[in-house]
Amino acid sequence: MGERTMKKNILCIGAGYVGGPTMAMIARQCPDRRVTVVDINEARIQAWNSDTLPIYEPGLNELVRACRGRNLFFSTDIARGIAEADIIFVSVNTPIKTFGHGAGYAADLQYWEKTARLILQHATSDKIVVEKSTLPVRTAAAMSRILRTGDSRVHFEVLSNPEFLAEGTAVADLTNPDRVLIGGADTTTGKAAVAELIALYSAWVPSDRILTTNVWSSELSKLAANAFLAQRVSSINALSALCEATEADVTEVARAVGMDSRIGPKFLKAGVGFGGSCFRKDLLSLVYLCESYGLQTVADYWKQVVCINDYQQTRFVATIVQAMFNTVAEKRIAVMGFAFKADTGDTRESPAIRISRLLAEEHACVVVNDPQALANARRDLTDLGDRITYEHDPYAAARNADAIVFLTDWQEYRQLDFRRIFQSMRQPSFVFDGRIFLDRQELFKIGFNVYSIGRPPLLQ
Ligand code: UDX
Ligand code: ADP
Repeated sequence: MGERTMKKNILCIGAGYVGGPTMAMIARQCPDRRVTVVDINEARIQAWNSDTLPIYEPGLNELVRACRGRNLFFSTDIARGIAEADIIFVSVNTPIKTFGHGAGYAADLQYWEKTARLILQHATSDKIVVEKSTLPVRTAAAMSRILRTGDSRVHFEVLSNPEFLAEGTAVADLTNPDRVLIGGADTTTGKAAVAELIALYSAWVPSDRILTTNVWSSELSKLAANAFLAQRVSSINALSALCEATEADVTEVARAVGMDSRIGPKFLKAGVGFGGSCFRKDLLSLVYLCESYGLQTVADYWKQVVCINDYQQTRFVATIVQAMFNTVAEKRIAVMGFAFKADTGDTRESPAIRISRLLAEEHACVVVNDPQALANARRDLTDLGDRITYEHDPYAAARNADAIVFLTDWQEYRQLDFRRIFQSMRQPSFVFDGRIFLDRQELFKIGFNVYSIGRPPLLQ
């Protein structure tokens, strides 16, 4: 049994931000396993097999290069992958529905259901199917139902094993996870499948960090963890508005509050709001779930976390317009940073999308700069055409600008020569620090009018 377990082939369907890094980590930690990652997107698979990976993530290049071709393979042959695998991870995208019932709230499960049907079509032996994508509660049950409609000789055991990695720190998070959560059925086959997955993670995760629950607790815990994290961000952002109105300083408030060991210091950084593929989607999914169980008051409670996030962005743009003498029409505004956070090229749900659009609506000439996310930015704003320009060089972006607006706290932005930037800009010059990460006294000394979220402005 031990030997058979060791040889189980692993497949991951969906070679994205979750599937790629997670499988690379499993391949590195379990050299005796064959790990294959498949995707319908050929270009993406080609990129995974090239020197330029499809996603930017610190440490990922080295990780992939160490295992690729040895026990880590990227392929578009999904049918073969399914046939040969014993354990199938599913990490296809589950965006917010844009149509029909639940549009704007519920998760769009079409990719995920297609995957279930593909597995059913190509499986000729028993499989453990593992949900990796964040999914609404009770999705595993639906997947089981689809998988049971086929040839009954093949047994499918569906587990929930949500991924908690954060982009930008994926490799570190996977190497040293706070916990690995595995949800499975309380049946003989369910317990055996859970044991298989525990055996896999035990290669590098201490056993006290591997947590097992029932399937639905596991699914709900993922939504709950993201909702709690997003709620912290919205809480501090809500207070940042009050700080601006009262001349308190949100960084001081966050520090004082976070030093309470019951509260803790993490995720108390005020800014332009949260982005990323998870928080908004999972909150709305939670709202939808509550509503469909008739829990309207609970749904309204979580909905407010999203409202504050949207509000923070409109409020930030209002501050910019007001500070610049109530008009930004035809003014050049350099948007520094488009990724939803530093150390990623991902722009899904990035606050920069909404803020750039609002600035364009005010007829500003927006110039976007980002060290990793320019290609995605172009795609996100393509309908705005000439209203937006894109500039690889931050100094060129700032030249002749009236204002520079920082939306992502990239390390390289801290090191910019702000004196040089100031001299190349139109006067009076403004800096808007949407991430409270620049030295505002220094900027003020150079001659900028400095606005940072949740703090009194420094005006010349
Ligand atoms: C998140 C969860 O952290 C992760 O566990 C889950 O698997 C997926 O969703 P991610 O979206 O990659 O990960 O990034 P995260 O670091 O959580 O940041 C989310 C957003 O919140 C970013 O836009 C970030 O800038 C913002 N944020 C975070 C703040 O504005 N302030 C903070 O203090 C922390
Ligand atoms: P995440 O952030 O959850 O990893 P991504 O969008 O980065 O999401 O990745 C999901 C991947 O799943 C995409 O590369 C997409 O092409 C792939 N995908 C979607 N549907 C299927 C499918 N039916 N079969 C294989 N891959 C799929």
